[in-house]
Amino acid sequence: MKRGSSTRTVNGLSLPQVIAMDGPSASGKGTLSRKLAKELGYIYVDSGAMYRTLAWHCLERDVPIPTAGQLNPVTEKPIIAALRRWKAELKLVHGALWLHVDGYFPEKEIRTDRVERAVPVIAQIGKVRDWMVARQRDCIQFGPLVMEGRDIGTEVFPLAPVKFFLDANPEARAERMQGRGNSAGTERDHLDMNRKKGALIPALDALRVDNTGQTVEETFAVLMAHVRARLQLPTAGPAESKPAIV
Ligand code: CDP
Repeated sequence: MKRGSSTRTVNGLSLPQVIAMDGPSASGKGTLSRKLAKELGYIYVDSGAMYRTLAWHCLERDVPIPTAGQLNPVTEKPIIAALRRWKAELKLVHGALWLHVDGYFPEKEIRTDRVERAVPVIAQIGKVRDWMVARQRDCIQFGPLVMEGRDIGTEVFPLAPVKFFLDANPEARAERMQGRGNSAGTERDHLDMNRKKGALIPALDALRVDNTGQTVEETFAVLMAHVRARLQLPTAGPAESKPAIV
């Protein structure tokens, strides 16, 4: 499918052509977002990678990162100063948008343990969130988007015509995290759910999909059926009509 316009007019309202995909760690949102983007010819955006890139950048420059309990205007200041100074820009690479710093995307570096620990702390800082949300909105200039994250349907694109909130039970998510060698996901989720700004919660108009025990294909079929209905695309065969919605 072709990318086309980045907005869509419905009843005189101009809506961003965005599929918002929110959910906790290991809920399957990365896999499903990439698959949806590929199927629809939309651009894939991993908003979490942007927060991770800032966490990595601060660690690289020895900017002190406090614990979540130590956050206050004084401890936040050096992080905000680093954010004001860094030279970061969005670049489209093979159908996905990534934040590059001084022309470099730290693809592997943002997946390390130290970044895992730092990222939910910096993601609590109001000015950091404001900056990230603004850059995430800038992404629409590149074309229609599938954007995954924690607050995409609530804060970044509240007018997105399609919103999902993916989840799976704690055991299934713990198993997936273990498979990836990711031990800090549950702790990050706890901090993300309890922060004041941009908390991890489903948008009221999001379709909540619990994919515990489902294959990727099964969940994909549920999501595509909803996308087709919401975007009034031609319907597909019976494989895409099996609902497993909570
Ligand atoms: O892949 P996973 O869901 O485990 O995490 P991620 O998408 O890589 O996001 C890493 C961290 O960035 C999250 O735990 C949040 O602290 C933060 N984040 C956020 O605050 N808002 C977003 N829209 C995306 C990520």
